[in-house]
Amino acid sequence: MKVVVIGGDGYCGWATALHLSNRGYEVSIIDNLVRRYWDVQLGAETLTPIASIQQRIQRWRDLTGKSIDLFIGDITDYDFLIKALHKCEPEAIVHFGEQRSAPFSMIDREHAVLTQVNNVVGTLNILYAMRQDFPDCHLVKLGTMGEYGTPNIDIEEGYITIEHNGRKDTLPYPKQPGSFYHLSKVHDSHNIHFACRVWGLRATDLNQGVVYGVLTEETGMDEMLINRLDYDGVFGTALNRFCIQAAIGYPLTVYGKGGQTRGFLDIRDTVRCMEIAIANPADPGKFRVFNQFTELFSIGDLAEMVQKAGIKMGLDVAINNIDNPRVELEQHYFYAKNTSLLSLGLEPHYLSDSLLDSLLNFAQKYKDRADKEQILPKVSWRR
Ligand SMILES: NC(=O)c1ccc[n+]([C@@H]2O[C@H](COP(=O)([O-])OP(=O)(O)OC[C@H]3O[C@@H](n4cnc5c(N)ncnc54)[C@H](O)[C@@H]3O)[C@@H](O)[C@H]2O)c1
Repeated sequence: MKVVVIGGDGYCGWATALHLSNRGYEVSIIDNLVRRYWDVQLGAETLTPIASIQQRIQRWRDLTGKSIDLFIGDITDYDFLIKALHKCEPEAIVHFGEQRSAPFSMIDREHAVLTQVNNVVGTLNILYAMRQDFPDCHLVKLGTMGEYGTPNIDIEEGYITIEHNGRKDTLPYPKQPGSFYHLSKVHDSHNIHFACRVWGLRATDLNQGVVYGVLTEETGMDEMLINRLDYDGVFGTALNRFCIQAAIGYPLTVYGKGGQTRGFLDIRDTVRCMEIAIANPADPGKFRVFNQFTELFSIGDLAEMVQKAGIKMGLDVAINNIDNPRVELEQHYFYAKNTSLLSLGLEPHYLSDSLLDSLLNFAQKYKDRADKEQILPKVSWRR
């Protein structure tokens, strides 16, 4: 089966491209490498040294005999996109190719506009390309659990059945996103839903939790295949940051009270979820939504887990609660359903088992590359 991975040079995309290639899919990558450019602009770098996309693909071919085609270009350029898709003739498109940082989108007007244009136009172009020439292709699109916000009721998988004034309907679950980035994902979800309804396209929106971990079966095969580990104030996630802080003896910086609770999953589960979604496509005309996470943790829980694991490794780990640069609830109800992917066969990895191998050991190994200036948040949500 032919699959295109858009954003295949990024964190989730690279691991997914290798995993699918290893499983016998014919994989092509589309990426404009803009993420590497944004890192340069911010003066930030992944802790792990990543090779160029060409070197990565070459090493994969040398190691396994499997080739991955590469198309370098921007999916907001429709001409480029349609030509690349015609060269691949995909049966499934996995779309990771977006600006994915909430703080990046909150830097200023330019970054908010860049994020929304890049994400919304890119996805719209894919929908139009599918409508024009690939109407049977299955779009597997990465959304985020952050689209829902933190409502005071259980979060369903995309839809909720509501009774109102004696009538009943099943409707898209209400969204209360927390940044212009998260808003771009909500706009995408609406556009994809509409395209499925009016053009009969098929799509799966994967509302993914925060992904952690460096290792998958494939990226662990060779140093040249290593994945990124972002810890900076813009692209780093709290868990990555805590692990690197523990490794370099810097107190773990918990934003605010630390009761902010989110869904999380191991990168090995991300790649497996992609495989499951592709192997079980949505029906024509169907916009399917799965919540893609395996465990819920508060930021305070994560800091304590890293502290305990760090102390076991002989590290001196303190926790500091610092002013929260974001506007968000710091103590709240949070419960979200995630049964769809489990019922299709996902067997989760758990953070308690992988914290050391997939994160802290990497943080330790590459700690000399850490730039302390990049750790603290510089972007504020407030005026
Ligand atoms: N990493 C997470 O924890 C996480 C959590 C939830 C959802 N997601 C979603 O998963 C997707 C991938 O996230 P990631 O962490 O791998 O991000 P990433 O920044 O590592 O990778 C994104 C890739 O897309 C490419 N890209 C961006 N805009 C493009 C464009 N216009 N044309 C072509 N390529 C483009 C970038 O160059 C980069 O290689 C995103 O859509 C993100 O919203 C990620």
